[in-house]
Amino acid sequence: MYDDFISKIDIVDIISDYTGLKRQGNEYIGLCPFHNEKTPSFHVSRDKQTYYCFGCKKGGNVITFIRSKEGLDFFDSLRYLADKTGLELPEKGGQRSNKKAEIINRTIEMNTVAAQFFYQNLKAGRGKEALEYLKKRQINPSTVKRFGLGFAPDSWDLLVKYLVTKGYKENEILTAGLGLRTKKETIIDRFRNRLMFPIFDVRGNVIAFGGRVLDDQLPKYMNSPETPSYRKKDNLYALNYARKSEQNNIVIVEGYMDAISLYQAGIDNVVASLGTALTERQALLLKRYTKNVIICYDADLAGQTAALKGMDVLADKGCNVKVITIPSGKDPDDYIKSEGAGAFRKLMDKADPLVEYKVKVYKKHCDMSTTAGQVEFLNLIAGALAKIDNRVEVEMYGKKIAHDYGISLEAILSEVYKNEKVYKTKDTGKLQVEAPTTMETKNDSADIERRLLILLAMDNDYIPEFNAKEGDTFFEDNDHLLIYKEMKKNYRNKKTVRPSSLMQMLDEDKAALFAQVLQNTHFESKELVGKAIDEMIMKNRLSKTEKRYNEVLVAMSNTSDDEKRKELKDEFTRLNRELKNLKR
Ligand code: CTP
Ligand code: MN
Repeated sequence: MYDDFISKIDIVDIISDYTGLKRQGNEYIGLCPFHNEKTPSFHVSRDKQTYYCFGCKKGGNVITFIRSKEGLDFFDSLRYLADKTGLELPEKGGQRSNKKAEIINRTIEMNTVAAQFFYQNLKAGRGKEALEYLKKRQINPSTVKRFGLGFAPDSWDLLVKYLVTKGYKENEILTAGLGLRTKKETIIDRFRNRLMFPIFDVRGNVIAFGGRVLDDQLPKYMNSPETPSYRKKDNLYALNYARKSEQNNIVIVEGYMDAISLYQAGIDNVVASLGTALTERQALLLKRYTKNVIICYDADLAGQTAALKGMDVLADKGCNVKVITIPSGKDPDDYIKSEGAGAFRKLMDKADPLVEYKVKVYKKHCDMSTTAGQVEFLNLIAGALAKIDNRVEVEMYGKKIAHDYGISLEAILSEVYKNEKVYKTKDTGKLQVEAPTTMETKNDSADIERRLLILLAMDNDYIPEFNAKEGDTFFEDNDHLLIYKEMKKNYRNKKTVRPSSLMQMLDEDKAALFAQVLQNTHFESKELVGKAIDEMIMKNRLSKTEKRYNEVLVAMSNTSDDEKRKELKDEFTRLNRELKNLKR
């Protein structure tokens, strides 16, 4: 169905956006975008339209690449590629997304109407208390307008009634997360007596709301649930403004109030993660605008733990991460109000690079007066350094840490490159690291089946002949059998199956095994493919016969029934002869 679409995309183009690729013969080689490495072991083949990493053993086709790199499912990966390449997706996927898009648009439209309703309520008499609260928090009217703040009145169903008069159906209001169904089956407002924060997507659409109480009641915030327009983990609050900032970096804070307050003070490159752990998709979203990210979370333990987690998510996606620690336990909102924007900008300039921040945290965490504490410290540090791509940088930090904490550089580096061999060269005395060698592929029955499928995909014309000789019984692995059946069906319908398309029916691990075989398979002529197929058939027979031979052997020694024994003996003789023939 989507093979034609996929065949129009060039995997080398797509992957080049993620890692630099250099041409080497028939292949393109670069640093693996799935794991940290210093010497390139990631191979992409334009002919085969596949990739394989000899280091981390990930592999697949362009779809598996986007699936694992962007965290999307199959259909979203197709859509992503369609967006990226400007190619049109075939009907089926298109229709589905149109229906979905319609629901999303309707939800956004309703949220926009609700936001206007909340804003008007804030300005009207009943919003007096909320206005006073905003004043107390030093939020001025132009900021209120800029962020579209509003007030949800203290009533049961004013908004629901309003939305109904605007033509929205009750079930739509529920789907949008603006209403709640009561036990009496009536629909009431989700947000009541709260200061309202519309949540925008990057284009400025209102996709959800957060509502804060006006006092110390709990829960402090009530947020829209996940709706067709809102996936909390995909969005960053205020990115619609931050992306237009002149600055070349973005500050991430935790809360609505932090973002708004910084923005008002002139720090317009600020987004809020809204109290959740940063996700890969949020990191990718940010990266569309800048790689330079400064995390500025609350100074409390929860904030700092969240910061630590978020840093790695961002760094793994290739962001250049720094961290601000605000003095005297304040949150960004408090700090900028008491110290001013100038002081905050100084904190930004002095922000710790990721590794240095981690070292600080680990030092606090470990009891450096005990050996156990020092060992733990060394392990944590090594873990942090191992995430850095650049060996020069690792060594630089290593030296600094060694110096600051009285640990030998060699101890640090051998912990960092645990799985690699660290040694001192004789001539320079410098530390060198040797990468581990890659493993051999096994010659088991699953491997034979994989190779066979790849061969058939390389030359679809062998399918009928193979089917006559062997057919479905060849395959023990269920996924392989499914692929084979799909291949037959496509062949009957005169559709080409390419080696790279075998992979998208499989999970990540199995796809990688295919990519690995494919990476090592080169055929110049049709006859050679035919020969190799025959060889796989032989190997498969051999492996099956050997398996049965062993089973019979065991069964013979276990049976006391003479009749049965004789039967087994005959089979054994036959198998033995067959094996000799096959091995010849
Ligand atoms: N949050 C939430 N639900 C809660 C508490 C917090 O969704 N019950 C989210 C909100 O997005 C909030 C963020 O976590 O903005 C950070 O929490 P906090 O620092 O407590 O909120 P602030 O926005 O700083 O609010 P304020 O300064 O008004 O207390
Ligand atoms: Mn706060």
